[in-house]
Amino acid sequence: MRIAISTGGGDAPGLNAVIRAAVLSAIDRGWHVLGIRKGWAGLLGDDDVVPLTRDEVRGIGHLGGTILRTTNRGNPFAYPVKQDDGSFKEVDRSDELIENARNLGINAVIAIGGDGSLSIAHQLSQKGMRIVGVPKTIDNDVSGTITTFGFDTAVTTAMEAIDKLHTTAESHDRVIVMEVMGRHAGFIALHSGLAGSAHVILIPEIPYDVDKVAAAIMAREARGRHFDIVVVAEGAHAKGGESSTMGASLPGQDRRVGGIGQRLAVQIQDRTGKECRSMVLGHLQRGGMPTGYDRLLATRFGGAAVQAIEDGKWGEMVALHSPHIVTVPIVEALKEPRRVDPNHDIVRTARRTGISFGD
Ligand code: F6P
Repeated sequence: MRIAISTGGGDAPGLNAVIRAAVLSAIDRGWHVLGIRKGWAGLLGDDDVVPLTRDEVRGIGHLGGTILRTTNRGNPFAYPVKQDDGSFKEVDRSDELIENARNLGINAVIAIGGDGSLSIAHQLSQKGMRIVGVPKTIDNDVSGTITTFGFDTAVTTAMEAIDKLHTTAESHDRVIVMEVMGRHAGFIALHSGLAGSAHVILIPEIPYDVDKVAAAIMAREARGRHFDIVVVAEGAHAKGGESSTMGASLPGQDRRVGGIGQRLAVQIQDRTGKECRSMVLGHLQRGGMPTGYDRLLATRFGGAAVQAIEDGKWGEMVALHSPHIVTVPIVEALKEPRRVDPNHDIVRTARRTGISFGD
């Protein structure tokens, strides 16, 4: 038996722990493991495929990033290919990929990724490739699993940043707006904001009114609290508005969500007369060592993915249904993206403890 592992999309702390657990669990069964480097590109001649033995996965469980590297531009069904005139054309290279995997003697693939990579895995599986998925994202926006690894680390990083912002904001009587990742989901903002005792949390699932945000800040001012921490999810938007996007995208890449923090700081300063600063936490949320929770979840996912291959669960992904790891059809998980439920107890508790959602 020869299996291969790929890591696609944005990296997330815990990827190496999945790889390590999967490799060791496969070797324990007497199987051989290959690593597909740089997402699916390694099977399209862009990078390469490397053997994964005990040596390659030794001492990596606690490391962030992915030893296999990754990309969010390698969709084999819409692969950006440079044309003679310098422009890019999206070409379907999925047949070539499947053929290359067959030639390498790969019997099954573990695809570790978020909604984009899992959707590719699902399409490849429909074309006959034997694939098991592992859900990964710091955004926590994949359905079918209670949570994904990487999320807890990102929340911890954001919460620690909020802790640090408190002291400087209070010293200067300032409003500090911190923009966090999450694309169109507000989980990182909500969880880190509540855990870090932010005063305003703005998430895409609860569109805000900037006048209400300003009113919440002025109400605190009236109570003698002269500083505020506003945590805003990058995809948050005003009522009737849309998420802000920024930066040029490279061929084959979605436009990036973000830029809201800076805009909001200006609007709040205009309305309150208080000195505002903004910061973007950015890729710090994706870097560094995974928390104990993420390492454990990632390790369980890696072991379960190999078990799923042994059980022939093609087209399924491992998932956390506490307290157990189960498998669910990837297609089920892709039906609807996971979003914050505005009536969730975390939101209700945040409101009851005085946090404003600007609505
Ligand atoms: O999906 C994970 C994520 O980190 C999002 O939260 C963020 O919008 C995006 O990836 C950033 O992607 P990139 O790596 O292209 O900057």
